[in-house]
Amino acid sequence: MQANTPNSQPIDRNEIVRLIDRQRQDWSLEQAFYTDPAIFALERDLWFPRQWVLVAHASEVLEKGRYIVRQLFDEEIIVVRFGDGEADIAAYYNVCTHRGSRLCTKDGRGKLLVCPYHAWSFRLTGELQSRQDLPPSVDPEALGLHRVPSKCFGGLVFCGLDANSLPDIEPVAAGLTDGLRENGLDQARIVARKNYLTKANWKLVLENFLECYHCRPAHPEYYRVNGHVKVTATRDADKAVEWQNEIEAWHSVIGDAEFHKGAWQPGDLDTMPFAMHRKPIGSGRNTLSNTGEGVSCLMGGRSAYDGGESGFRLGRLSFASAANDYVTLFQMIPRNAMETDVILTWLVDKDADQDVDADAISWMWDVTTVQDKKITEDNADGILSRAYRPGPYTPLESQTSFFVQTYLSELRSLITGTRGAPASQWSAPAQLFASPKAACSTRL
Ligand code: FES
Ligand code: FE
Repeated sequence: MQANTPNSQPIDRNEIVRLIDRQRQDWSLEQAFYTDPAIFALERDLWFPRQWVLVAHASEVLEKGRYIVRQLFDEEIIVVRFGDGEADIAAYYNVCTHRGSRLCTKDGRGKLLVCPYHAWSFRLTGELQSRQDLPPSVDPEALGLHRVPSKCFGGLVFCGLDANSLPDIEPVAAGLTDGLRENGLDQARIVARKNYLTKANWKLVLENFLECYHCRPAHPEYYRVNGHVKVTATRDADKAVEWQNEIEAWHSVIGDAEFHKGAWQPGDLDTMPFAMHRKPIGSGRNTLSNTGEGVSCLMGGRSAYDGGESGFRLGRLSFASAANDYVTLFQMIPRNAMETDVILTWLVDKDADQDVDADAISWMWDVTTVQDKKITEDNADGILSRAYRPGPYTPLESQTSFFVQTYLSELRSLITGTRGAPASQWSAPAQLFASPKAACSTRL
């Protein structure tokens, strides 16, 4: 396809507000939101610093002194375990406080973090250790590493760019820790990880992830394995009744307490969104494998398969799916206006056999994400055309539409410094807020 060159000229903020105000509710965005580096720069300055994101699994920094180098939006950070307690994990910008070199170039383990340039060393808690070369007038206490806000709960490590901008993460920890533990995330180890670098704006990646309207044409394997497609991928009254009957049958097997487990906070700029819900996989399948049979040992202390999947939303850019015997983590990391890292990590119980079949475990989400990368990149290519115009979201894309509305409202508030009025013009899909159980008709 012949692509127009996206406009790379900086545009003023008032112009972006006017652009936001002319977007039609329940229609996709104008081209600039998916291509313009100036809008991406504004998101980087204003919206990304409001987001807590999943950066690692706690097993990646299992022992004191273990550190890993990870990407946090456009910043490189170091995540390090400084003590033996579950929460003894800190994160720092990967910048030496001497003259700014990258401090760590790869994952490792040590008693200190040592800069490769002039060998300044830092304690695991961030303070400058090597002080002998400092001029007498310089206060070594002011030369500790630059801290990145971090929080570890339920086996997951979250970070954000700016402590002054981030919402409180404690309600999310309180709301999700039990659910994460019950699914064994705190007692897990990684068996596979893949980065599906997707040449598309991060919003296109999310828009695709939040709807299953595309699942029938694009995902034959996912469509075959997941019963919820009867209501999320099609609008068919008979199939909807079939799915409702499956849910009720599953309810009668697992009991009320298990069936009604869930949490839901839609979130806004000052409140971190999160959700957990459970649903049956369907058709008698034990797990999300090609055959429906188990691919590893049970997680979270379960004694038998219950045929369910737990879906987690962790802020706006991170997700998790937990079958009974394996977990998939999803990280969407915006790289620039036209590229997004989509990183999937698969986990099993820490005591699972060393020779578990990682291909069998990663099969469904791998094949699905390869397909998602293709359709999302085709979407991005089409949007570059001079013929592109926004199109209408259908009822099966209501969560996608809600995300887009939320994004526009939040970006507008951040630009103008106002709250309330602009957001009130958007209406959320009623099913998003009815109850945690209502979220059972969603993909994750
Ligand atoms: Fe790190 Fe000099 S820049 S020791
Ligand atoms: Fe998909």
